[in-house]
Amino acid sequence: MTKKDIEYFRNWFSDFCRSFYTDNQEDLKNIRLKEIHTFKVCENILRIAKSLNLEEEKTLIAETVALFHDIGRFPQYQKYKTFRDSESVNHGILGAETLKKTKVLDRLNEPDKRIIEKSVMFHNAFSIPKLEDRITLLFIKLVRDADKLDIWRVFLDYFECPVESRANAITLGLPDTPEYSKEVIEHIFRKETAPHLEVKTVNDFKLLQLSWIFDLNFAPSIEIMKERDYVNRLISHLPQTKEIQEVKNFIDKHIIRL
Ligand SMILES: [Fe+2]
Repeated sequence: MTKKDIEYFRNWFSDFCRSFYTDNQEDLKNIRLKEIHTFKVCENILRIAKSLNLEEEKTLIAETVALFHDIGRFPQYQKYKTFRDSESVNHGILGAETLKKTKVLDRLNEPDKRIIEKSVMFHNAFSIPKLEDRITLLFIKLVRDADKLDIWRVFLDYFECPVESRANAITLGLPDTPEYSKEVIEHIFRKETAPHLEVKTVNDFKLLQLSWIFDLNFAPSIEIMKERDYVNRLISHLPQTKEIQEVKNFIDKHIIRL
């Protein structure tokens, strides 16, 4: 793969996004959100790749994976008007299908094509799949980190901006009530990522996002997470109870050691 290919993909993706623009302002906000998210995930993956001294060809593939990782979000939202996979489709699988259907990757050789399709397919899987192919695993890990680093930004922006400019699909239609589930907190204390199924409220979703710190794969990702102060910012939007304080202390201790 060459620089020409990535330029072609960037232009192709912009046209693809534009084809989903609509006069409905709410829907447009949600579509634009995913488009901007994609560019930020590309920036994140390039930064991680640079810190890891990844060679040029691999860096080009990494950027392509980031560019297409959420391509399934667009047809998903168009059809179901939600980003909630459990109420619609798995957007990673839909993404891989969309890549095949549009034939956008046909200019690449077969191995590169397969690596990108698989990375898109598994970028949102609950855990990293047990694949033999170590090179595909590298890109899956890279995109999962780059994606999480930007989901935290999107999510925090939502809480830190005026109500009228919020894109409603971010909180997945969950009730924004003061409750949070003990089960989700338990996962954090076990240093596990919490499953989406256990998320019942917006607060649970904030806790689930905190649990993602246990799923970062590369040291530069942890650096970026610290630099952007994601943990403190997420905690500040949760009820200030003794339990949440314990969660904060636990995570702080964990991060200090990294
Ligand atoms: Fe994403």
